[in-house]
Amino acid sequence: MAAITKTKKKDFLTIGEWDTEDIDELLQEAAALKKAQKQGEPTPYLSGKILGMIFEKSSTRTRVSFEAGMLQLGGHALFLSSRDIQLGRGETIQDTAKVLSRYVDALMIRTFAHETVEEFAKYADVPVINGLTDLHHPTQVLADLLTIYEHKHKLKGLKVCYLGDGHNNMCHSLLEGAVKMGMDISVASPKGYLPNPQILGAAKNEAAKKGVKVEVGESPEAMIQNADIVITDVWASMGQEEEAKQRLQVFQNYQVNESLCKHAKADFLFLHCLPAHRGEEVTAGIIDGPHSAVFDEAENRLHAHKAILKKLLEKC
Ligand code: CP
Ligand code: NVA
Repeated sequence: MAAITKTKKKDFLTIGEWDTEDIDELLQEAAALKKAQKQGEPTPYLSGKILGMIFEKSSTRTRVSFEAGMLQLGGHALFLSSRDIQLGRGETIQDTAKVLSRYVDALMIRTFAHETVEEFAKYADVPVINGLTDLHHPTQVLADLLTIYEHKHKLKGLKVCYLGDGHNNMCHSLLEGAVKMGMDISVASPKGYLPNPQILGAAKNEAAKKGVKVEVGESPEAMIQNADIVITDVWASMGQEEEAKQRLQVFQNYQVNESLCKHAKADFLFLHCLPAHRGEEVTAGIIDGPHSAVFDEAENRLHAHKAILKKLLEKC
């Protein structure tokens, strides 16, 4: 039997592992796919392809946008809750990845430890997409970059400010994404909740190459100064439910509210990956107000995911 030669697969585990040019290309592709969808043009680029989606945590946006996106590209998506597949009963990641690779063309995984998606990627023969780990949320940040571009018509030269839990997935992927695209980024977080030192260090190195600034500090007023983009996230991420009460105290001074936002640029854009807790990390006045683009941001998950799927799968 003739040997089948396969091109080396590429995964989407973090923003940091992609080049600026690749991210730029993904953003342009996402914009083109969005336009095609709005104009009712068919986009059957992944006809007959199947995406397996493993979820070890809850999801509204990620699940529905990947599934809808795959259908819009002419393919199919399978929702695989870890509660229902043998992975949840102790079958190894290695065996699960190898078996699923025989059935599907790509895998998307939402899980706890980042090492879990890395292990999936190591053993899967098909591209693996990180649909959120405790450490990174790269597909969300691609959608955020698209949203910023649509509203500000550029990325380079803008200042992004993230407030709240600096040690979470959103902050880490934003640090990587902002500097890659030539934006300054400041992070306002209390002591003990600062970004992962390796991710912060790598972002600072990349920032030095790009001539942009990465600032981390405890003062929300200082960090938000002159920000073009203001971003926050929940104070207790999935898996941290038991710490939720204590975190309400720790982060109370980091709420994105009308008074704090006076220090940002007058035309600042507010983003939140959602789900949000109004009255905790953000006031209703901000998230439901004129500066907010959170529903454009949520919509853009769909377009960004389609661009990722097309890029990873079209040549497979
Ligand atoms: N922002 C985000 O990832 O939303 P879901 O948890 O609903 O997928
Ligand atoms: N930081 C949040 C993001 C949810 C999309 C969490 O991990 O729960």
